[in-house]
Amino acid sequence: MGKIAIAIDGPAAAGKSTIAKLVAQHLNYVYIDTGAMYRSLTYKVLQEQIEFNDDQKILSLLMELDITLNQNFEVYINNVNVTNEIRNNDVTNHVSQIASIAAVRNEMVKRQQQLAANRGVVMDGRDIGTRVIPDAEVKIFLVASVEERAIRRHDENLKKGIPSDLEQLKIEIENRDRMDSERESSPLKKADDAIEIDTTSLSIEDVLQEILSIVSQEV
Ligand code: C5P
Repeated sequence: MGKIAIAIDGPAAAGKSTIAKLVAQHLNYVYIDTGAMYRSLTYKVLQEQIEFNDDQKILSLLMELDITLNQNFEVYINNVNVTNEIRNNDVTNHVSQIASIAAVRNEMVKRQQQLAANRGVVMDGRDIGTRVIPDAEVKIFLVASVEERAIRRHDENLKKGIPSDLEQLKIEIENRDRMDSERESSPLKKADDAIEIDTTSLSIEDVLQEILSIVSQEV
């Protein structure tokens, strides 16, 4: 059975990473969270207090960063574990600005294409089906209502003991969607040949089974 590439795109908090991890686990594929790469760079930009409009400095910084994702879902920057740090609010609320820099995207896409070169990958993000792996054998576009996405993120936060405000989450998710969809360089967009799944009223298991059934027709 040949190994394929599976691209999972969609707006913020649509459940992409939860689903992508499960699909990868079922197929014994590698899971690649491309959002974690943009988050890692954003974390370093904030830490080094670089201006958000200084594209050149931000790109130079990226070139010094070795961003590694391992199969325990941990993220390392130059061998330092930043798995939790890259999920903080400050990073979440600035990442779309950094991700809109075309030169940053070019470099990230290059790295992501190298990671996908051998197939056997499930990659999630915003531009995987349109730009990173346009020839992916399976392309999924996951969507859900803003209300549902905010509720899911809110519940997740509460479970982790992180203070959370549902209305604020809605605003932040909408802002991130707007910036990701309106940017010039490879915006968030469903690929023409992607299959859209609306997860608003589906369970994780339902979505998983639907994707596995799509995959089984390809391999
Ligand atoms: O997937 P996650 O929500 O962690 O992604 C964080 C941000 O990284 C997104 O809101 C988007 O701005 C950016 N991103 C991107 N392209 C990708 C993955 C993430 O622009 N392929």
